[in-house]
Amino acid sequence: MTAVWWQGEARFCEGDDQKMGQIKAESMHRQETVLTETVDVQRHGNGLSLEEGKYLIDQLEQQQIPDRERLAALIRANCEELREYARGKARAIADRHYGKNIFIRGLIEFTNYCKNDCYYCGIRRSNTHAERYRLSEEEIMACCREGEKLGFRTFVLQGGEDPYYTDDRIVDLVKRIRAAHPDCAITLSIGEKDRASYERFFAAGADRYLLRHETATDTHYRRLHPSELSLSRRKQCLRDLKEIGYQTGCGFMVGSPYQTAEHLAEDFLFIRELQPEMVGIGPFIPHQDTPFAGEVQGSLELTLYLLSLLRIMQPDLLLPATTALATIHPRGRELGIEAGANVVMPNLSPVGVRDKYSLYDGKVCTGDEAAECRHCLERRVESVGCHIVVDRGDHKC
Ligand code: 5AD
Ligand code: FES
Repeated sequence: MTAVWWQGEARFCEGDDQKMGQIKAESMHRQETVLTETVDVQRHGNGLSLEEGKYLIDQLEQQQIPDRERLAALIRANCEELREYARGKARAIADRHYGKNIFIRGLIEFTNYCKNDCYYCGIRRSNTHAERYRLSEEEIMACCREGEKLGFRTFVLQGGEDPYYTDDRIVDLVKRIRAAHPDCAITLSIGEKDRASYERFFAAGADRYLLRHETATDTHYRRLHPSELSLSRRKQCLRDLKEIGYQTGCGFMVGSPYQTAEHLAEDFLFIRELQPEMVGIGPFIPHQDTPFAGEVQGSLELTLYLLSLLRIMQPDLLLPATTALATIHPRGRELGIEAGANVVMPNLSPVGVRDKYSLYDGKVCTGDEAAECRHCLERRVESVGCHIVVDRGDHKC
C-alpha cells in the first residue's frame, strides 16, 4: 500500500514504546487482536514512515480525510515525533478557533443507579458493591447555585440510566434550572432515550446532550456491551439529538478491551460523518468490580495523539481534557490542553457522593470541594498559557 500512495523516503519512528502495531496488543486475553495486529504489521512492513505520517496529518488538516486503512496506519504510527507534529498543529488550530480560552462545565453526577450492564463501567447494574445514591432536586439546584457563583455557565447533568428519573422528572428539573439560571447552558448526559423524550427535554430548555458512542464498530461494540444494547440504536439516538437541534457530543474510550487501530479509524470516520459539536475521549481505566477488572489501562500518549488528530480533523470541536486523562497522569488535563483540548469538566456534585460515582478506579478530585477544584484548575490551565473563561462556551462554527 505504502508505495502506491506515498513515494517519499522511509524513515521510521524509533525509540518509542507506543510503536505501530502496538495498540494494546500486549493484553493477555487478546489472541484475536494480537493476530490482527501481527498480520497488519506484516502487510505494512515496519509501519508508516515519519514522512508518511506527517503527510497524512497534513492531509487531515486540509480536510482530505484518509481512508480507513490509512487512518488506521496513521493511528498505529503513534510515536513522539508524530505526536509533537500533531500537537503543534492542533494547539495552533484551537488557538485560531477559540483563542486561549478554556471553557469549564460544572458536572453534576446526580444518580449512579443504572439499568445497563456495560462490561467496562463501575456503576453497571450487576455491580452489587456499588453504593447507590441519587441527588434530590433540591440538592441539584444547590449545586447549580454554587456553580454559578464559582463562574460556571454550563451545568452537565450526568447520570446512569435510572428509571426513577422519568421523563417528567427530567423535564421538571430542566425547567427549574432554566428558570433559575437563564444565562447558563444545560447539558444532559443520561443515556439512550426515545426521540420524543429528547424532544421534550429540548423544549424544556436543555441545550446540549452528551452520549458517547463508545466504538463505531459493531463487532467491537458487542464485546463491550451485553446484547440488549446495540450500536445501531446508539447511532440513531445521536442522529436524533443532532436533528432536534442539541449541541451533541459523542466519544469513545481509548484502549478499551479488544480495540484496534482499525476501530479507532472507524471512530474518526463516524465522527466525520456525524459532525458532532463535542467529542469526549479518555483512556479506558479498569474498575475492580467489572468483568474488565484485569484488562490493561488505555495509554496516555495515544489519548493525547488522538485528541490532536481530532482537533486537526474538526477544528471547531469542543474537546474536553477528561477526568480519566487526569486520573492516569498528574498533569493529564494540562497535557490534554496542550494537545488541543479546550474544555474541562470539574465536578460540582456534593463531596459526600463524589467517590460513589465510580466508573473506573482511582478517579481524581473526589475529595475536593467545588471551589478548591475551580481554583486548582485555574492554576493548571494557566500553567500551559491558557485561561478559564466565564462563558457558556457554546460551539462556534
Ligand atoms: N474507564 C474509562 N471511561 C469509562 N467510562 C465508563 N467506564 C469507564 C472506564 N472503566 C466512560 C464511558 C461513558 C462515560 C460516561 O464514561 O465512555 O460513556
Ligand atoms: Fe479538582 Fe484540581 S482539578 S482539585
